[in-house]
Amino acid sequence: MPSTVLVGAQWGDEGKGKVTDLISGDYDFVVRYQGGNNAGHTVIHGDKKLALRLIPSGIMYDHITPVIGNGCVIDPRVLINEMKMLHGEGISTDKLVISCDAHLIMPYHIDLDGAAETRLGKHEIGTTKNGIGPAYKDKAARTGIRVQDLLDEHIFREKLETALSYTNLVLGKVYGMKTYTVDEICEEYLPFADVIRPHMAETAQLLNTALAQGKNILFEGAQGTLLDIDHGTYPFVTSSACCAGGACTGSGVGPKAISKVLGISKAYITRVGSGPFPTELKEETGDLLRDVGGEYGVVTGRKRRCGWFDAVIARYAADVNSLTDMALTKLDVLSAVDTIKVCVGYEADGKRYDYFPMQHSALYPKHVKPIYEELPGWKGQDITGCRTFESLPANAQSYVKYLEERVGVPMSIIAVGPDRDQTIFRGWSSR
Ligand code: IMP
Repeated sequence: MPSTVLVGAQWGDEGKGKVTDLISGDYDFVVRYQGGNNAGHTVIHGDKKLALRLIPSGIMYDHITPVIGNGCVIDPRVLINEMKMLHGEGISTDKLVISCDAHLIMPYHIDLDGAAETRLGKHEIGTTKNGIGPAYKDKAARTGIRVQDLLDEHIFREKLETALSYTNLVLGKVYGMKTYTVDEICEEYLPFADVIRPHMAETAQLLNTALAQGKNILFEGAQGTLLDIDHGTYPFVTSSACCAGGACTGSGVGPKAISKVLGISKAYITRVGSGPFPTELKEETGDLLRDVGGEYGVVTGRKRRCGWFDAVIARYAADVNSLTDMALTKLDVLSAVDTIKVCVGYEADGKRYDYFPMQHSALYPKHVKPIYEELPGWKGQDITGCRTFESLPANAQSYVKYLEERVGVPMSIIAVGPDRDQTIFRGWSSR
């Protein structure tokens, strides 16, 4: 049975939550493979909107097994609160499965995240301050603590002692902050085992067995291509593998199991946090897109930076993820503007770039001049009621076809509003 990776094709916040919600009914498993509670998406439950940060949105469906894969980092306090919130809404979390190999976010990771940002000053990354980077740093340094360590107090204590022997020096001597004792963390964390134990599993085995039985999987990416630790605008990235390849390493399923890769892009582009953004609009069109598109972070409430669709980035995302399809979201927001621009290349220091530049310094405002093509808009025409491609204004149809040609990937889902039914399907199939 085919499986699908759903991945952000920009800097995150592309509307992955809505698309996951739309298509996840076709799958048996929904798997998060990277990141932690730095993500945030809204799912609809009756007439209520619920914000999930860590638990896969598949939790909303009875027939789906939601899995938090080994590539994720888990703050158990956030996990347990999210489970409680779902119980409060009458949603069972019994079938949630958590990889025994996922790493735990510890209290000191959160302290270190904040302290590192303060130290960076004007060079700050603009992290969500949830301890994501420091947790992955410990994972790479092999001083991380995993979910399975909660099962054995002796091992947990031993690993914590090793981690604190270094981390307390950094907290105390470098930052002059509070240090931790093994006992105080054990007292808080070890009881989490009682809640997590029933959900813990060797998820690589679980997923491979399911595939062998003909079940299919939706891998739910968080953040986006340009926030990927390898392929993003480093260092202004998150610390995990957001791209489609991360679905394999972050779940223990090989690439042959994946037949579709659905990239999600807004009809324009946004970013939160710092870092280069060639098509950023710092004038009133940017403010207009933010206001009309409600461009404020789900987790942090921060203002998102807004700009024109960048086809260079979209082509790059198509390549590094092997996109088979794209979903274009928030097309309705462009009803607010007269003429629409699309970035088709960059000029930097006298050189033209049609592809993502080798040296990322070319992406910074000091150097980059986006090369735009202009397309006529459909200003003032409300497209939120359109349910077929043909019912869209001619200029909106042309815009989508233009992007499709530029990017070289079919736009098989188009969102014209936040609700489930405000969607146009153009040949998307999970098979
Ligand atoms: P971190 O993931 O908290 O370490 O933050 C690193 C960068 O990724 C910052 O620029 C964040 O704003 C960005 N980021 C992390 N999660 C998300 C997300 O879900 N959407 C958009 N940006 C994100």
